[in-house]
Amino acid sequence: MNILVINGPNLNLLGFREPSVYGKNTLNELMNTLEKKVIDLKHNIKIFQSNHEGELIDIIHDQKGWADGILINPAALTHYSYAIRDAIKAVKIPTIEVHISDINKREDFRKKSVISEVCLDCVIGLGEQSYNVALEKLIKVRL
Ligand code: DQA
Repeated sequence: MNILVINGPNLNLLGFREPSVYGKNTLNELMNTLEKKVIDLKHNIKIFQSNHEGELIDIIHDQKGWADGILINPAALTHYSYAIRDAIKAVKIPTIEVHISDINKREDFRKKSVISEVCLDCVIGLGEQSYNVALEKLIKVRL
């Protein structure tokens, strides 16, 4: 299985950014752990991060011939990007939404995800484990 992992704005600052909310590990550390797991399971992985909405959409479009499944943490774009939602819907690739923090227990504006409806499932609030749990769910869906 070819797994596309997409991280949105400000996730490049993990480790430095609000560690009490997002943990102490950097994005590289999180993605290295995820990559090892994917390789152990004999799947393939491509990992992206961008602070730009359009770039995230381009990645979804460009990888549509490669990806069998998507794990996406759209970060703040989760709450208002109809363009990312439309891109996920357009490519028809099974997608799992991931959040490190529990967006339902934070500010009101974070409680709404415009992405969830086009995703098969959503993993939230498991800290750095969120990506690993989302990976397991995605693999189960495809098997
Ligand atoms: C986040 C939650 C979002 O509300 C926030 O804007 C982020 C990270 C998470 O992983 O918990 O940047 O997606």
